[in-house]
Amino acid sequence: MEAIDIDHDLVVVEEFDALYVKTPSQIPIANISNTLPSSCPKQHARKVAKELGTDNGLIYLPGQLESTWEDSDQGPPFRQRRYFYYLTGADFPGCSVTYDIAADKLTLWVPFTPPATILWFGNTPSPDDCLSQSDVHDVKYVGELAQYLSARLATVKTLYALRPSQLPKFEGFEQMRPSLKIDVSSLQPAMDEARLIKSEYEVAMIKRANDISSNAHRVVAKKAAAFKNECEVEAAFIAACTAANAKTQAYPVIAGSGPNASTLHYGANNESLIGRQLVVLDAGAEWSCYASEVTRTLPIGPRSQFTREARAVYELVHRMQAECIARIKPGVVFRDLQLHATLVAVEGLLELGVLKGGTAEEIFKNGTGAAFFPHGLGHHVGLDVHDVLSRDLLRPAGEGMWGKRRPIGPQSVRAMIKQAAAEAPPPPPATDNKKNAGAGAGAGKRATHNTLQPQMIVTVEPGVYFCKPYIEAYFLRREEHARYIDPAVLDRYWGVGGVRVEDCVLVTDTACEVLTTAPKGNELLRMMGYA
Ligand code: GLY
Ligand code: MN
Repeated sequence: MEAIDIDHDLVVVEEFDALYVKTPSQIPIANISNTLPSSCPKQHARKVAKELGTDNGLIYLPGQLESTWEDSDQGPPFRQRRYFYYLTGADFPGCSVTYDIAADKLTLWVPFTPPATILWFGNTPSPDDCLSQSDVHDVKYVGELAQYLSARLATVKTLYALRPSQLPKFEGFEQMRPSLKIDVSSLQPAMDEARLIKSEYEVAMIKRANDISSNAHRVVAKKAAAFKNECEVEAAFIAACTAANAKTQAYPVIAGSGPNASTLHYGANNESLIGRQLVVLDAGAEWSCYASEVTRTLPIGPRSQFTREARAVYELVHRMQAECIARIKPGVVFRDLQLHATLVAVEGLLELGVLKGGTAEEIFKNGTGAAFFPHGLGHHVGLDVHDVLSRDLLRPAGEGMWGKRRPIGPQSVRAMIKQAAAEAPPPPPATDNKKNAGAGAGAGKRATHNTLQPQMIVTVEPGVYFCKPYIEAYFLRREEHARYIDPAVLDRYWGVGGVRVEDCVLVTDTACEVLTTAPKGNELLRMMGYA
């Protein structure tokens, strides 16, 4: 889901595995698929050029450098720039990449690591290593890059960079600038467009990340009865991922029990589980820089602690998810799924008595559903957990309600639901798969980013929460909403905290494939002895 009032912007392929990644034999997980397609930087580079709509020019991207914290010789774990990785698969510091569009030549530029550095930190892959392991045309030392750029730009004349701060910095570049066409605005939209539709390689990586995360969620569910504190939930999840050689989490683990489950991006993960009914575990590992995102809500403690209220909300949220997943296919406007999930939530809460005093449609159109389901239904997943263009996924058709950088928060969710008042209840998903689908190459022909297309990977993550400060401030104190909420019934639900379920879903040509295999719903309850 998108943050409330927090503006977050939003191996084994033969080649790159060896460069950086782990071989299948190192992954002690039975159900991980071992047949993976080749990594595809060349394919990605050609796709980006097609999106740029040009057959000439030089693309230049610097990779990430290693950094240290202020006043320290230590630093954060290395995290490669995602746009750079998309074109190289190289996951070590100090590299650059060039793609000569006319020559169709993708060159990875790697650092030379001096022996003194090797003593402390080991070597980085040599050009020969990289060339034999990675799907680029050429690999050279970065020391030769300035000479290459001077010579090539003198002929090619057009340079594409992501932004001004990523322009090359070599002696002589400033003197060349007046004779060059430097484009720092077209590359990112073109790369976003390319990244939006996942290649088979990317699907395989995200699937593997999901396999590892799903296994870790299974491990946690099996051990949950013994846990006494949220920190044990977090630790068990991370241990299972690390043991599968997935050492990086795609985002900080959320292990929130009781009322903490209603804090969408809770992160303290340090409270006692005693007396708590449920714990929301939202956690996903990365694999080869590709993210997974998985949420499961687990009953905690003795069966008597899994109250009628907790079970009802658990079932409701799973119903919201199942109905949305069943509707996914190319051409579906994602916002319609969001509205559908909200309507299901309103119907369910009306049945439970938390909502009252109107029909489901009336309450839905009033925007009161946002009290309990206050975030986006999902987002893209790829090299970033909230992958490129996620903000656009929830936009209504036609004019965008949100500017590009505006966060989705309670106001905008309420506004979105209210806007639905002007419409009929959520329209049925479009049946014409061609409508809005297929980006078409080149700027100016791009699909609406709110519509599902084959090979997109999105999360479907409905939730129902009882966040007291939020519900009191924005709903119980406002007559327009308060009249639809029964405070006496609501009192019984504060302790439930919240329930969320989240899977990564691949849009196929006709419907979708759920990539997350962690048990959920009744299967999870049976496994844990609560069904
Ligand atoms: N599942 C939490 C988020 O997407 O932010
Ligand atoms: Mn998510």
